[in-house]
Amino acid sequence: MESGSIAIIDKFTGLQIVLSSRPQGKPHLENFRLEQVAIPTKPQTGVLLRVLYLSLDPYMRGRMDDRKSYAEPLSLGEVMPGESVAEVVASEHPNYSKGDIVLARTGWRSHAASDGIGLRKFDSNLGPVTTGLGILGMPGFTAYAGLTLIGQPRPGETVVVAAASGPVGSLVGQLAKIAGARVVGIAGGPEKCRYIADELRFDAVVDHRMPDLADRLAAACPFGIDVYFENVGGAVWTAVLPLLNAFARVPVCGLIAEYNVNDGIATPGSTFASLRDVLTKSLTLRGFINYEFTEKLYPEFLRTVSAGIADGRIQYREDIIDGLENAPAAFIGMLEGRKLGKTLVRVAR
Ligand SMILES: NC(=O)c1ccc[n+]([C@@H]2O[C@H](COP(=O)([O-])OP(=O)(O)OC[C@H]3O[C@@H](n4cnc5c(N)ncnc54)[C@H](OP(=O)(O)O)[C@@H]3O)[C@@H](O)[C@H]2O)c1
Repeated sequence: MESGSIAIIDKFTGLQIVLSSRPQGKPHLENFRLEQVAIPTKPQTGVLLRVLYLSLDPYMRGRMDDRKSYAEPLSLGEVMPGESVAEVVASEHPNYSKGDIVLARTGWRSHAASDGIGLRKFDSNLGPVTTGLGILGMPGFTAYAGLTLIGQPRPGETVVVAAASGPVGSLVGQLAKIAGARVVGIAGGPEKCRYIADELRFDAVVDHRMPDLADRLAAACPFGIDVYFENVGGAVWTAVLPLLNAFARVPVCGLIAEYNVNDGIATPGSTFASLRDVLTKSLTLRGFINYEFTEKLYPEFLRTVSAGIADGRIQYREDIIDGLENAPAAFIGMLEGRKLGKTLVRVAR
């Protein structure tokens, strides 16, 4: 990062992190710049927010490229995007009072002004505020919606999920178990694999960083795969594809293995091989963005998952880093798999 060690120096000065250059492949600290800014004055009808926690999510990597996806790319110098838990420190808005805790799309900032549009109050009866960014927030909802509406696991079926210790994958696996399926988790390294096996109680675990992934996955799925929740792509998808049973469902949620590949992967034959299997086995592959389902499913998701947390059937982990200035390093670590659970930044105490 370009700025050295600047910090909040007085109550009128805030911090923000902007995109300073576009990564080629993996992002590096030089791609980010920490800036001091005047704390915004609240608009006449809005609120002023002090960010407590910032969520770091894989999709942010895509926004750093100059390539249009479902969202516009960031411009150089623009504040990194992101959702946070924030405290209302001043309000002229009829729906929000000083002291309210809200979920907001502030970006990587210590403070933000908002006109109130898009803010959501967090019900602290459901859990600690950090859960609003993880298991009870966008990643949790992604897992719930993708599995419930697309995966539709049935008792006795085999469900496979990759990035299985993360906020999306860990809930996918636990919900699939609650639905009566046999769950196989794919994760990187012994610590994550132990967590999935011992604490989340998945039925089998495969470490994708060890050799012979395809053979070990086949051994873990003796009756093939009925639901594959796609978080990863790349080598994991190649290993999964031949094991898919007829009429398997594949919620295509994310392709993190490919986020740092700027030109797209052009493995000879792989697209053709994938498409042929989609056709000949009548597979359902359906990409989705979590907010397609918000209106239909969000209240049910909050009820179900918070009840599961309360009675101990659903667990979650958070990896909380202190200080907005440490967000870039934590973001890079999350992309590289060095974080366990939901990665968050504690911006203020
Ligand atoms: N469609 C949507 O609306 C939506 C919403 C939220 C998230 N997503 C997607 O869902 C996926 C999971 O998100 P998350 O927030 O739960 O992420 P996460 O688990 O916190 O972090 C990403 C994980 O991906 C794994 N990974 C990275 N490179 C990999 C590779 N080459 N092969 C296999 N695994 C690799 C790493 O875990 P291991 O060390 O275990 O490999 C890493 O911890 C991402 O692809 C994300 O983009 C989609």
